[in-house]
Amino acid sequence: MKETLNRIKAEALEAIASPETDDAALEALRIKYLGKKGELTAVLRGMGQLSPEERPVVGQIANEVRAEIESAITEKKATLASEALDAKLISEKLDVTVPGKKTKVGHRHPLTLVQRDMEDIFIGMGFSIAEGPEVEYDYYNFQALNIPENHPARDTQDTFYITDKILLRSQTSPVQARTMEVQKPPIRIISPGRVYRSDAMDATHSPLFHQMEGLVVDKGITMGDLKGMLETFAKTEFGEDTKVRFRPHHFPFTEPSAEVDISCFMCGGKGCRLCKGEGWIEILGAGMVHPNVLRNCGIDPEEYSGFAFGMGVERIAMLKYHVGDIRHFYDNDVRFIEQF
Ligand code: DAH
Repeated sequence: MKETLNRIKAEALEAIASPETDDAALEALRIKYLGKKGELTAVLRGMGQLSPEERPVVGQIANEVRAEIESAITEKKATLASEALDAKLISEKLDVTVPGKKTKVGHRHPLTLVQRDMEDIFIGMGFSIAEGPEVEYDYYNFQALNIPENHPARDTQDTFYITDKILLRSQTSPVQARTMEVQKPPIRIISPGRVYRSDAMDATHSPLFHQMEGLVVDKGITMGDLKGMLETFAKTEFGEDTKVRFRPHHFPFTEPSAEVDISCFMCGGKGCRLCKGEGWIEILGAGMVHPNVLRNCGIDPEEYSGFAFGMGVERIAMLKYHVGDIRHFYDNDVRFIEQF
């Protein structure tokens, strides 16, 4: 019996130690040697035939053999587990020195670039930025600006009405009234933003476009301040040699009013394709804030005066970047957008 036990032990230990033994094979060996129907159990069952003297001796050997096989299995299990972990670590190794994949970051839209540029120039002159809603009351878009109901000046800016009293603003000028209502002079603001008009889309029109409004109100503000400030703007935006020209015009919310041209920065005023042979390019509307508008907003026109101006951001961008069609700005064609 002792020989049988030793043989079982030797066989079992060899099989367990074999490099071919994996988890499944190890479990099969455990059942084969230590299981209820296993070889060692069979030997122990036969112990009844032994003499009383032999029984404890063989019993002890049998227990030692079982213990040795058990510990060999436990050890092998641990070895297999750590080998598996090593293999996993090697196969899943990360090389942190491999150069990363560059994510493509976009950049600002040309209209944003121009708007930021313009903001910078005015902020440099002490202006701050005011904002107003795009869904606006008829009151701020027209009435507060000295454009009563049925005034013909509404025709050119007929816009998208939501109700009789609420509309998509057709100009950034309502921000003038909103600002003067809550802020007393001195006031020095610009207000860039989207405006809406029921215009058909073509090379120079879009039902949605951007404007930038300006408003200065204080004691003793004159047309000279307006001219000087616009000249500074034009020279900074279009170059030192740029000249500014005021042409008389009419806006209901300014008196006197002017349309403002700059000398063509392409030909220097000689006349070319960009300025259509004129030598001058119109860039904005401006004027001295009408006393009615000041009064409507609770500011005494006897004590204060102010100037205002409004310009199209698309127009400035088209001039600056020589863009021939306003629709390019909204098409989101990367071949266009990437050029800026
Ligand atoms: N709001 C005018 C427009 O959309 C532009 C304008 C003209 C604004 C004269 C002004 C201004 O502030 O004084 O056509």
